[in-house]
Amino acid sequence: MKKKSLIILGSTGSIGQSTLDVVRAQPERFSVSALVGNQNIDQLVADAKEFQPQLVVTADPERYLELKDKLAGSGIEVAAGEQATIDAAAIPADMAMAAIVGASGLKPTLKAIETGTAIGLANKECLVSAGDIFMAQAKHNNVPVIPVDSEHSAIFQCLETHNFDEIDEITLTASGGPFRQFSKQQMADITLEQALNHPNWSMGAKITIDSSTLMNKGLELIEAYHLFPVGLERLKIVVHPQSIIHSFVSYVDGSVLAQMGVPDMRTPIAHAMVYPDRIKAPVERLDLASVATLTFEAPDPDRFPALRLARQVLETGGNAPTILNAANEIAVAEFLSQRIDYMAVTILVEQTLSRASQSGMTGPVANLDDVWEADRFARQVAQELAQGLV
Ligand SMILES: NC(=O)c1ccc[n+]([C@@H]2O[C@H](COP(=O)([O-])OP(=O)(O)OC[C@H]3O[C@@H](n4cnc5c(N)ncnc54)[C@H](OP(=O)(O)O)[C@@H]3O)[C@@H](O)[C@H]2O)c1
Repeated sequence: MKKKSLIILGSTGSIGQSTLDVVRAQPERFSVSALVGNQNIDQLVADAKEFQPQLVVTADPERYLELKDKLAGSGIEVAAGEQATIDAAAIPADMAMAAIVGASGLKPTLKAIETGTAIGLANKECLVSAGDIFMAQAKHNNVPVIPVDSEHSAIFQCLETHNFDEIDEITLTASGGPFRQFSKQQMADITLEQALNHPNWSMGAKITIDSSTLMNKGLELIEAYHLFPVGLERLKIVVHPQSIIHSFVSYVDGSVLAQMGVPDMRTPIAHAMVYPDRIKAPVERLDLASVATLTFEAPDPDRFPALRLARQVLETGGNAPTILNAANEIAVAEFLSQRIDYMAVTILVEQTLSRASQSGMTGPVANLDDVWEADRFARQVAQELAQGLV
């Protein structure tokens, strides 16, 4: 069997490492063509030695020499910098796993699409920032975009039809995060340590904070809007604290198809890597008798305003989702550096959106330049506003 070759964008992160785990479990099926990381040079080097890619890239030019020295004599090509991450996405491969965090993943992922490489899409922020352009480019290049986010993978797996008129609703499930049962008063005292402690999933820091504010679910709503064009009004969210049902599709005849599994990203990753086939993934099997109870509840938009903001930016359209995403990236980074408190994260996003709307920055998106302009504007405004909140 010909091995499937992979470019892993964000190989040192949580999704990148889980992708390599799937490769490790089935070495006869996969080869790694390129690894792209940023700060974690030791991980890049260890993975390069194990998986022998043709190219290894750090996005940080200041780490080039360290990477080069540590791989000296290996015969593996080494490069650094933003352009190198984009060039890495253009080398011939069967699939690019888009697992960089944030809008930094957009340019390399678009480059892989332009090159005609199938995309395994974990990096939701690139769809939030530039969803219309991204999907149009994939369509134009006839490139499959296979969702890796567990909810979108679930929906993808439950889609029996591409006639969206046969679908009543698509429902994303949400664990509710660690603060699902916190009162507003308790939420005022949330610490970084508490926010980084997700009840069900082990993930990178940014998405863990996003999951706790439910901004992650907001970003996923926008992601779903682009991947599954049923319209915003037919996209729903329900809180399901056990994270066993990863999402479901309700059809007009009353059938509801749901996808289940233990909360382990290696399942949706393995699914994307060999779709439409299936392979054995190195995950625990689901034992419903031991799970025993699955519960569901409506999300609370009062304590978790991120859900309202996500719907609002989709209704506004234009650059509003780009601004929401960029402001959120800054707000989460400020919280992770302990410069703002927990409740300020979503407030900062809302304030940036208001400022953008007052400044006429939520206009239509004609091209990527418009996306980057809105992204820059939002980052700058959010930074300024964060200063005021310190
Ligand atoms: N983790 C999950 O379970 C999960 C589930 C669904 C969707 N996702 C999505 O998948 C993406 C990755 O999440 P994650 O949890 O894997 O994040 P993570 O653990 O923080 O990893 C992020 C990766 O991106 C790299 N990176 C950061 N900035 C970069 C830049 N400017 N250029 C190139 N690479 C850069 C990091 O490199 P260094 O570490 O070397 O600095 C790392 O490899 C996010 O969009 C997230 O929303 C994650």
